[in-house]
Amino acid sequence: MSEHVTIVDHPLVQHKLTLMRERDTSTAVFRQLLREISQFLAYEVTRNLPMATKTIETPIQEMDAPTLAGRKLALISILRAGNGLLDGMLELIPSARVGFVGLYRDEETLQPVQYYFKVPDILEERMVIAVDPMLATGNSSVAAIDLLKKAGAKNIRFLCLLAAPEGIARMKEAHPDVPIVTASIDSHLNENGYIVPGLGDAGDRMFGTK
Ligand code: URA
Repeated sequence: MSEHVTIVDHPLVQHKLTLMRERDTSTAVFRQLLREISQFLAYEVTRNLPMATKTIETPIQEMDAPTLAGRKLALISILRAGNGLLDGMLELIPSARVGFVGLYRDEETLQPVQYYFKVPDILEERMVIAVDPMLATGNSSVAAIDLLKKAGAKNIRFLCLLAAPEGIARMKEAHPDVPIVTASIDSHLNENGYIVPGLGDAGDRMFGTK
């Protein structure tokens, strides 16, 4: 993956994303659509997983067949909305290890502060995929990736559903080595930090909170 940002413009992804954006889409449908889209995004973000060959026997003959190589990859959910992407991704990559990063924003400094951090071991030998549906200001994503690098991660990708240009610029500046996979780059952030046109608060929409 050489480009810094990959937009997954598959028609099924774009159709499902439109349904998710609609104000009147129910919590249950929103959740199901996120699960479905997460699988397309997971397919794209894992395109360059390392491969090896192993010798197998088909019912017809022996062959050298492709197989995944190296350590199991690590999916890291940035709480809480990242959890909405996990289930679908784990259906596709059932043996992935899973970690969680919890950050809140300090009201005085406006900086992200860690309140939870639990990640798989030997991160330095794994492909690490940090997931958060919304890349808005980029502050929490950049902070989460700072923490993952401090924990040893070297091969990190960032997967989101929607991105704002501001968030992409912030990530590119702070972590130019971390490719981003998303379903859309929207117009801009509004004064409250929401992505425009966006889909509202992803956590609230998937968990049915306000
Ligand atoms: N987080 C969200 O859930 N939605 C936005 O639009 C921006 C950040």
